[in-house]
Amino acid sequence: MSKHEERLQKVIAQSGVASRRKAEQLISNGNVKVNNQTVTEMGIKVTPDDKVEVDGVPIEKEAFVYYLLYKPRGVISSVKDDKDRKVVTDYLPEVSERVFPIGRLDYDTSGILLLTNDGEFANQLMHPSKEVNKVYVAKVKGIPHKKELSKFRKGVVSDGEKLTADHVQILSSDKEKKTSIIELTLHEGKNRQVRRMFEAIGLQVLKLKREQYAFLTLHGLKAGEYRALTPKEVNQLRNMSTKL
Ligand code: URA
Repeated sequence: MSKHEERLQKVIAQSGVASRRKAEQLISNGNVKVNNQTVTEMGIKVTPDDKVEVDGVPIEKEAFVYYLLYKPRGVISSVKDDKDRKVVTDYLPEVSERVFPIGRLDYDTSGILLLTNDGEFANQLMHPSKEVNKVYVAKVKGIPHKKELSKFRKGVVSDGEKLTADHVQILSSDKEKKTSIIELTLHEGKNRQVRRMFEAIGLQVLKLKREQYAFLTLHGLKAGEYRALTPKEVNQLRNMSTKL
């Protein structure tokens, strides 16, 4: 697919007229015209130069938007849930664009989560070779020895996958409660990575929070609050993910 070609149903969905599935229905029901011709077959590709109409009304491309959410614990990193549990987009009720989370945090993890409707931007940030640094703070059961934790830098194996941290430090330990607070910096973003890394050295994570995403922090936000990224922040992220 050339750079500016997109599937018709995706272009309709991105305009905010309908969900991707509804867009497919609109196409097969004959409600969609491309350059004045009705199109009913799925999968045709269009460019920004093509005129797309739904029920005779030309669609406009939705402007791209970018948000930073302080995700609370107990929320799914998704736009909807089959079991009707809370999802991250429930926390941005004033946002009418079809935003989705860039990557995910576990249900029980809190912290920074970016949301956008810009798929290319999201893919760039999540590309395995270009993942930006993320800082996590974990409360774990037990008081690990520095030497145990230093294994993280070389990498530990979990389910046949090597998981690495760039930096790890113990922030504090509570000898009575036998718990520790540990900060980890990762650039990888593998599934449940932090929890699996601690499991690999026999420690249970009691609480987990993502405190930093690239240069972005939770400064000024409470759990459940969000803010728009500034154009400068969006550009900085874009530059980082293309240069890395
Ligand atoms: N690592 C995890 O284990 N969980 C998260 O939500 C994020 C990173």
